[in-house]
Amino acid sequence: MGLTSLLDLELAVPRPEELQQFWTDHGMQLTTAGTLGTTDRPSQLRLREGGYRHVSELRVECETEADLVAIASRLDALGIASAIGDGVLRCADPVLDHDVVVQVRGAAPITPAAPRQWNLPGAYERIGQRSPACISEQPHSPRRLGHVVFGTSDVEASRAFFVDGLGFKVSDSFGEFAYFLRCSNDHHNLLITPAAVPNLNHYALEMDGIDAIGLAGQKIVAERPDCSVTGVGRHVVGANMFWYLLDPAGGMFELYSDMDQIVDDEKWAAENHRTDWNPFEVAAWNSTAIKPDFFEPVDIADIAKGREAAGR
Ligand SMILES: [Fe+2]
Repeated sequence: MGLTSLLDLELAVPRPEELQQFWTDHGMQLTTAGTLGTTDRPSQLRLREGGYRHVSELRVECETEADLVAIASRLDALGIASAIGDGVLRCADPVLDHDVVVQVRGAAPITPAAPRQWNLPGAYERIGQRSPACISEQPHSPRRLGHVVFGTSDVEASRAFFVDGLGFKVSDSFGEFAYFLRCSNDHHNLLITPAAVPNLNHYALEMDGIDAIGLAGQKIVAERPDCSVTGVGRHVVGANMFWYLLDPAGGMFELYSDMDQIVDDEKWAAENHRTDWNPFEVAAWNSTAIKPDFFEPVDIADIAKGREAAGR
């Protein structure tokens, strides 16, 4: 069966308490010390102190113990060491150096979003009622960690590790320049893109829809006026609607909704998979210009120094 879900990220930042406060203020729950979760998934971001901002562990789910054995064998063929114990496989990302854990099961199902009525031309459903987007006072909280994007100094080594080793599937690519990879039905749970210094480009949190993105993002921008990087818009590849913002640790995150879903691998490969996307066609539409931070983190010099100090 192979990989089935993205589970969580461990994020190392110089001031984890600041990032923890930000996310508890904006709809995530502190489930155990340093661990932020959502209503359905108690662990989505695990925070710890580190000299520079980076992912220290990425955790994904697989179906069976046999999957762990198969992954270990494939990693071994790539010359990458791994160890299996207590229902998990551990190895190290060969480019970014963080730990990768593959765990047998563990992803809780996501409670379906409440159905919405829309007024569309000739198909008016919301009759005699105001939109909940205008009158609801419910907070708009992230529903789950959906994907992560890494800048890698060796795209081919990263592709080999994630695809040939761990078993991620390629949904689309910009030639051999960048790869959109999935370990679930989501169009992408991981994107690897070229970078001079390996880094976390962004983490993405799924929201209940465009209104949830707008309302949650607006609240964040009201507190941190310069933190919007780009959006609201809709990506071309993956089709997700997005708003990219900076967290207090200097990391970019994306609030997103409505990503393409892939349940039939062969059908997607035959009818939709493309390698000729233009990497500069980021959005089908976008309400703002894209700041340079979108492509290279604002703290890339600190990341470079931190990696060097850590011997990476
Ligand atoms: Fe994204």
